[in-house]
Amino acid sequence: MVTFFFLSSQIGDKWQPFDLSCFCVPKHYENDLEQVLIPHGIIQDRIERLARDIFQELGQGPLTALCVLKGGYKFFSDLMDKINQLNCNQGQKSIPVSIDFIRLKSYENDQSSGLIKIVGSDNLSSLKGRNVLIVEDIIDTGRTMKKLLNTLQQYEPKSVRVASLLVKRREDNNGDVCYMPEYAGFIVPDKFLVGYALDFNEYFRDLNHICVISQAGMKKYRK
Ligand code: HPA
Ligand code: MG
Repeated sequence: MVTFFFLSSQIGDKWQPFDLSCFCVPKHYENDLEQVLIPHGIIQDRIERLARDIFQELGQGPLTALCVLKGGYKFFSDLMDKINQLNCNQGQKSIPVSIDFIRLKSYENDQSSGLIKIVGSDNLSSLKGRNVLIVEDIIDTGRTMKKLLNTLQQYEPKSVRVASLLVKRREDNNGDVCYMPEYAGFIVPDKFLVGYALDFNEYFRDLNHICVISQAGMKKYRK
């Protein structure tokens, strides 16, 4: 399954990013972006399919969907909507879903700090015996996710799976991804991406498409 995702959702050498002039972007970001990598509509279409895959592969048991804030909130919200629609289809299957939120911090400017701080979380003892789906915006070095998976084990969930909208191929890892989740939306090149809740120092969350930040944008919003 993972191999299939890798081949089918890879935004590789043949994928042409779009010129900014093809799409509407907020005026305040016009000079801060290089290209549109994944337009909003394609993001939605891919999430629809991810929701179907998750729905089909989950057992009947209740699910706790755990949103990794802040970057995961849009993906989480759209994914939950689409899973809810499947629950309303009057088929054999319907999965009760509860939701929970966790906040981690690992990035300042565009460098991985190596240290991951859990700066906010609910009482995670409610995860005991549950099927947990972690919903994340992007997996880059994979360090954040590995740390989170370790941390969650102490709450004794029944199962843990990971859905990440983006997974980055890293130049320093032979152009390969560092960690492959059970559900991956798009495999993306090693560029700093913003939009659809992905930020650069808290900017660009208010942008619908996933875009490559420009040098000017980096300079303008660098701390
Ligand atoms: N964009 C935003 N946040 C990130 C990225 C990125 O490319 N990689 C890891 N966190
Ligand atoms: Mg994230």
